[in-house]
Amino acid sequence: MRKPFIAGNWKMFKNKGDAKRFAEEFSKLYQNKAVDTAICAPFVHLEYLKEAFKGTGIKVGAQNVHHMPEGAYTGEISVGMLKSCNVDYCIIGHSERRQYFGETNEDVRQKIRQLVDNGIKPIMCVGENLEEREKDMQFQVVGRQMSESLVGFTISDLKDLTIAYEPIWAIGTGKTATAEQANEMCALIRGILDGMLGEYIAENTRIQYGGSVKPGNIKELMAQPEIDGALVGGASLIPEDFNNIIEFDK
Ligand code: 13P
Repeated sequence: MRKPFIAGNWKMFKNKGDAKRFAEEFSKLYQNKAVDTAICAPFVHLEYLKEAFKGTGIKVGAQNVHHMPEGAYTGEISVGMLKSCNVDYCIIGHSERRQYFGETNEDVRQKIRQLVDNGIKPIMCVGENLEEREKDMQFQVVGRQMSESLVGFTISDLKDLTIAYEPIWAIGTGKTATAEQANEMCALIRGILDGMLGEYIAENTRIQYGGSVKPGNIKELMAQPEIDGALVGGASLIPEDFNNIIEFDK
C-alpha cells in the first residue's frame, strides 16, 4: 500500500517573514498523519523550515540542485549543501526549469544521480505541453522523459523516488487534467517503471499529479487508483488551502 504524499512547491514566492508566518500556521494545522507532506521552498528558506517543522513530521524539499558535486559554478547550489541543511526531498526537472533554463533529460539524470548518492529523495517531474497533447503525443513525450532520465539506475538507487506528472497546460492555468487523463498517464508511468526496474519499484513508487490542484478537486484525483498524491503550486502558498488539500479524505 502506497502512503499518499502531497508536496507543496512554493516556486519563487515568499520572503523570510512570509515563510515564518506560513510555518507557524501550517505546523498547527497539519494533523493528517495518514498523508506524508513536504514543502519545497526556495534555497534561502530550507534551513529555517527544517528547524520550524521539527517534531511535526512535515518534510522539507529543495526545488533544484546542480549536477556536479562542487566547483566554479557561480550562483549554483550543490547536493552537499542541501545535505548539510538536512533537506529531505528535491524536485528535479520541473517543467519551468526545462522551459526557462533549458534543462534536458540528461541534466535530470545527472541531478538524480547526485541526489540518490547523497540520500536526498528525488521528486522527478514529467509532463507534456499543450501542443504535444493536441497532437496526441503525450505518452511518447513522457515515455521519453522517463527512459532518458532513469537509465542506468538500480532498484536500490530509486527506492525513494517520487514521480510528479505535471501536464504543462494545467500548471497555473486553473485548467486541471481530468482525473481520468491524470490516472491514465500515471498508469503509463507505472508501466514504464515496471519495464525498466521491475515490479517492486513499479508497485512502491508514489506518483503525484500536479497542475491546478485545489481543495475542490483533490478528492476526485486521489480517488484514482494510480494517483498517490499531488505536487501543489499556488494552493500550497496558503496554509489553510494546503492543509485542506492534505485533508482530502476527511
Ligand atoms: P499550480 O498548482 O500553481 O498549477 O502549479 C503546479 C506546479 O507546477 C507544481 O510543481
